Amino acid sequence: MKQINIGLIGFGTVGSGVIKILKEKSLFLRQTCGCDFVIKAIVDKDVISLRRVEVDRSILTTDGKKVIDDPQIDIIIELIGGISPAKEYIIEALQKGKHVITANKALLAECGQEISRVARKNSVDLLFEASVCSGLPVIKSLKEGLIANNINAIFGIVNGTSNYILTKMAEQGVSFQEALNEAKLKGFAEKDPSLDVEGIDSSHKLFILSTLAFRQEIRLEDIYTEGITVISSEDIKFAGELGYTIKLLAIAKVIDNGLELRVHPTLLSNDKVLSNVRGRYNAVYIRGDLTGDTIFYGPGAGMLPAASAVVADLVDLATSLISGHKEAKKVFPAKKGMSIRKIRDIETKYYVRLQALDQPGVLAQIAGILGDNKISIASVIQKRKHCQESAPIVMMTHKAREANLQQALEKINNLAVIKEKAVVVRIEE
Ligand code: HSE
Repeated sequence: MKQINIGLIGFGTVGSGVIKILKEKSLFLRQTCGCDFVIKAIVDKDVISLRRVEVDRSILTTDGKKVIDDPQIDIIIELIGGISPAKEYIIEALQKGKHVITANKALLAECGQEISRVARKNSVDLLFEASVCSGLPVIKSLKEGLIANNINAIFGIVNGTSNYILTKMAEQGVSFQEALNEAKLKGFAEKDPSLDVEGIDSSHKLFILSTLAFRQEIRLEDIYTEGITVISSEDIKFAGELGYTIKLLAIAKVIDNGLELRVHPTLLSNDKVLSNVRGRYNAVYIRGDLTGDTIFYGPGAGMLPAASAVVADLVDLATSLISGHKEAKKVFPAKKGMSIRKIRDIETKYYVRLQALDQPGVLAQIAGILGDNKISIASVIQKRKHCQESAPIVMMTHKAREANLQQALEKINNLAVIKEKAVVVRIEE
C-alpha cells in the first residue's frame, strides 16, 4: 500500500480535527484512495499543551523549516493562518516540490497570485477548500461542478461571527459587544475580531470565490469593504418593522461585462433565503447561466467542518498522486479583461436613517436635497423621539446611483437640523 507522508503546520482546532478524521476514517480513506495517510511531523509553537486528540509526541516540533526540508514528506498542510511565517513556509514547500493544502484565506487574498505562480512553476498543487465556508464544498463546486457555467452573481454570508452578532442583536436584543464576546468564546471569531466585524474576512473570501468564479485576476483593493460596526440595534429594529433583515453580504455581480465586488451590511427582505441564514451559519448563493440559482448552506467554521474540507483536498491530491501526477492544475487564473465597477457607480436602493430636529420644514429641506441629486424617495417614516428636540427619520429610496446619494448625504449631514451623521444601508433585491 502506498504511503503519503504529511507535514502538518498548526496543531490548533482544525489541525486536531484533521488528525481525528485521518485516525477514525483510516480504513475508509485507504479503500477510497488506495493509500495510507501518515502524519510524519506536526509543527506548532506550543508542543507541550494537550490537545483534543492524542498524537505520538515524538513527531511534534517547533521547527517548521526542518519539516519542509524533509524529503520524505509529500504534502504540507498549513493551518496557522496569517501572512508570515505561513507565506514563507508555503512558498518553500512548493519550491521543494511538495503539494500544499491551506485554509489561509488572508494569505490567498493578499498573495494568491504570487503563490499560485510558484506552485505552477514547480508543478505542484495548492488546494484550499477550507479557506471559504470551511466544510461547504463551494470551491470544489466552482472549480468542478459548476465549471460549464458562466457565473453571473454570487451573494454570500461568509462570516459566521458577523452573522452571529446580527442574529443575536435582532432576535435576543443582545448588544454588539456581548454577541461578539460570545462568538469569541465559541471559537469562531478571528484572533483579531476586527477582521470579522469590519468585513475584511468576508472580503478575503469574496476575493477567492470571485477569482475562481469569474476566472479573472482581481485585486483585494477592487472589493469595496464595509463592516457591521455602523449598524445599531435601532437600525435592526427599524429594518425589521419594514420587513427586512440586515445581513453582512459579500456580493459579486457581472453587469455589462464589468464586475461589481462589494462587502457591506445589506437590507434583505425577510422572504429571501439568505435572510433566514441565522447565527454562525454561512450560505453562498451562486447564479450560473446553466444551473440558474444554487445555494450552499451550513456551518462556516468549526473543528470538524473545516477539517472535512482539508481531508477532501487530501483525497484529491492522493488521487492525482496515485494516478501519476505530472502537471499542476492552475490555482488562480491570470486572465484580465472585466472592468471593476467602482462603488460610486453602483445603482441600488437605500435605507437612510437620519436624526433630525422635529420642526416644520425639516423634511422639505431633506427631500429638496435628495431631489436635486436625482434621488427618489420610496417611503419616509418619522419614529418616536429619543430626546426632546430630535427624532429618527427612516427613508427608503428608489434605485439611485451611489455617487448621487453620497453627494446628497454630504449636504444633508451639514444641515443645522441634522443631529447625527446619517446611517446608510444598501438594499439588495
Ligand atoms: N472568523 C471566521 C468566521 C471563521 O467567523 O466566519 C471562519 O473563516
